[in-house]
Amino acid sequence: MSVDQIALEDLRAQHRRDYDPYNNATIAEHLAEMAQRRREMPISYSARGNGTWVLTRYDDIASVLRRNNRGFVSNPNDPDGGNPQGAQKALIPIELDGDEHKFYRRLLDPLFSPQRVAALEDQLRAAANDFIDGFIERGECDFVEEFAMPFPGATVMHLMGWPLKDLGRLNEWTGTIQHGIVGVSKEESQAAQGRAATEMRAYLLDLIAERRTNLGDDVTSHVLRAEKDGAPLSDDDLFDLLLLLVLAGLDTVQSTFAQSFMHLGRQPELWDQMFASPESLEPAIEELLRIAAPAVPTRTVVHESVQVGELELPEGERVHFPLAAANRDPAYYPDPDRIVFDRAPKPHLAFGMGPHRCLGVHLARLELRIGFTELRRRMPRFSLDESRTPTEHLGLAWGVGNLHLLFEPGPRERS
Ligand code: HEM
Repeated sequence: MSVDQIALEDLRAQHRRDYDPYNNATIAEHLAEMAQRRREMPISYSARGNGTWVLTRYDDIASVLRRNNRGFVSNPNDPDGGNPQGAQKALIPIELDGDEHKFYRRLLDPLFSPQRVAALEDQLRAAANDFIDGFIERGECDFVEEFAMPFPGATVMHLMGWPLKDLGRLNEWTGTIQHGIVGVSKEESQAAQGRAATEMRAYLLDLIAERRTNLGDDVTSHVLRAEKDGAPLSDDDLFDLLLLLVLAGLDTVQSTFAQSFMHLGRQPELWDQMFASPESLEPAIEELLRIAAPAVPTRTVVHESVQVGELELPEGERVHFPLAAANRDPAYYPDPDRIVFDRAPKPHLAFGMGPHRCLGVHLARLELRIGFTELRRRMPRFSLDESRTPTEHLGLAWGVGNLHLLFEPGPRERS
């Protein structure tokens, strides 16, 4: 072992505290563990899998996010260095850096601008009401299955210009690819993930071939028209890009809705506070984003060494950080687990920061505003069905598998 290697092994040993991003804890239990780590060892080394440093403080996480291209790269965006989503090369743009990343952001940013997104408002409102129509007369629903999952899915389908009839399949593939199958062996779950990735790839490649001859003004058409180094994007690049757009657009919004409703069901006074005045909704959504932040990014050191907090991490070391941990750092958010809609405005990190800050931020905020508003209008009171325990998962995007709500049955009419 070289002197450097011995020093690194010492550093890892001094900060060793193993961590399983996929453990079976609930989100609240996992957050409690992150809080304890923050108090006792805010930067720790987990030897599990290929080994990763785990960050818990707002400042450490923000400083890493800001330094993409300057000390860190974002490929692989997975602590085990695997490729659970089945990308051909790298997920585009989230696992690219430097000029390649800039090329894709320049292509995509205008397609997700506030103006383009605002044009979707009527379509999204109609879609939200279609899903509410599906359960409102029953007085009960699985909120995840019947709203939180299909509504963002339909939004992505509209934006991409894909047939809405394929929504069910796409949601199922996305869920399996991201979270595997609950209640079966690890091998069975991984096999199901592989099958879902293969089927989704076949679907996206068919769609790319069909759409090349049938271009319009949707996101798919714009990326099919794009040229890189004088040639259209290859099928592999298009696949890695479309796959990421679907994964990023579905799971995150779904998780924010579902986690929010879990909290609102337990604290109904918050559901009223959100709508106390026309100005109440926006800050309430930001506070719910702070509390429910689902994403858990990973970065790798590419400079000789970089400073993270009080530690100097050498090239090749990987860092992994739940954004929800940054968002609950008491240094910035007093009583961090409490939902307080009029907190002093310290920007949360739910959408990340720096070069990879979420491309879909305007779309996500619009979906949340429309979704909450339409649900409030048509389901003004609800409670959690205490006889059914919600299922939750951790991983690279924390979320809720099902959430049963009870409410007064409402009319089918939309207004
Ligand atoms: C509440 C909803 C959402 C949350 C909390 C969220 C969160 C995030 C976060 C934290 C990142 C950065 C990850 C990293 O640095 O490794 C990110 C990136 C990204 N998000 Fe979102 N997202 C949401 C909704 C959406 C939507 C609706 C889309 C639209 C399709 C989207 C598309 C993307 C894309 C393409 C990236 C990669 C950007 C890049 O690498 O430059 N997101 N998102």
